[in-house]
Amino acid sequence: MSDDKLQQQGTDNQVIVGIDLGTSQTSVISNRGLRRVFQSVVGYPKDVIGVRLLGAPFIVGEAAYEKRSFLELRYPLQEGVIKEANSKDLTAAREVLKYAVALAGAAPGDEIRAIISVPARASAGDKSVVLQIAEEIVHVAVVVSQPFLVAYHYGKLYNSLVIDIGAGTVDVCALKGMMPPPDDQITLKKAGNYIDQRLMEGILDRYPDVQINLNIARGIKEAHAFVGKPAAPVQVELRSNGLPVLCDITEEMRTACEAIVPDIIEGVEALLKRFQPDDLPKVLQNVIVAGCGCRITGISDLLAAKLRAYGDVKIALARDPEFDAASGALLMGQELPPKFWDQIGEMIGES
Ligand SMILES: Nc1ncnc2c1ncn2[C@@H]1O[C@H](COP(=O)(O)OP(=O)(O)OP(=O)(O)O)[C@@H](O)[C@H]1O
Ligand SMILES: [Mg+2]
Repeated sequence: MSDDKLQQQGTDNQVIVGIDLGTSQTSVISNRGLRRVFQSVVGYPKDVIGVRLLGAPFIVGEAAYEKRSFLELRYPLQEGVIKEANSKDLTAAREVLKYAVALAGAAPGDEIRAIISVPARASAGDKSVVLQIAEEIVHVAVVVSQPFLVAYHYGKLYNSLVIDIGAGTVDVCALKGMMPPPDDQITLKKAGNYIDQRLMEGILDRYPDVQINLNIARGIKEAHAFVGKPAAPVQVELRSNGLPVLCDITEEMRTACEAIVPDIIEGVEALLKRFQPDDLPKVLQNVIVAGCGCRITGISDLLAAKLRAYGDVKIALARDPEFDAASGALLMGQELPPKFWDQIGEMIGES
């Protein structure tokens, strides 16, 4: 079914919104035609001058990052779930979710239904924090496993495997034609943020005098990430005592990006063992790598090579990694009325 056709479904006063609440970015798609992604960050002015400059008590998304020199930035999600450590993080999480819902295009009097993606193995406590916040903002909400929503979006709900490489987590999920039980899903903590950390440490080991932080490391990674054989040496301009220096970081990049692979292979192997042996050839033809980490050059080839012992493996890269989970969430919300939502995840509101 085309996206256009789907957007015509639902009654006029129902806003259905798919939200992928990610560690680094939040994606939103609604049945009113809205499609947006923004950084999961909230900026608060450091003092009264900042309040005057900003003209508001806080700001959400890229604009907060751009004004970071006079804002205190809060990233309320960690490893894909809301940090509960202190009330400031909870408040920031509320602002991120409110911002996402406000983007959905609801008018006063509309009923808002939200399908929210969470990491595959988010705990009951993690899910209830998301739902508690959602309860203040929408009428009905359900939290659903992120890689399952990716599979839903691609129509790969049977004999397939999704590997979602995000910032905070890699989520792996085996699809067997039903809602995946916990044992068919794995959440790994070494993901994009871990690569940034490893890359920064690797660069500092080799070039101790350069000025680098995690944001710079992430930018370099997003421009040059690769595993396996490099297409060309990776050379980047950094600064030492304020002066530009050209650094070759080919090996450091490869080492950092490949550092997440062993855990992924271990997780995939554990899930493969849980399929019927006669289904395995089909499963191995139906592996999808999703999440923005799928943009690491060479990742599908390296994973396929590591799984060669299982037979012929075909690994597809997601076509729309920023929006796959949110698209799957919207599709699910449009195809299944809320009376079924308690079968797909924990929910709040009328069922
Ligand atoms: N071109 C690229 N090469 C490598 N990594 C990339 C690239 N573009 C983005 N990334 C990384 O992908 C990660 C973000 O992916 P995604 O948006 O799927 O995660 P998220 O949903 O925010 O996080 P999570 O799913 O863990 O909560 C970040 O670590 C980002 O640096
Ligand atoms: Mg994600």
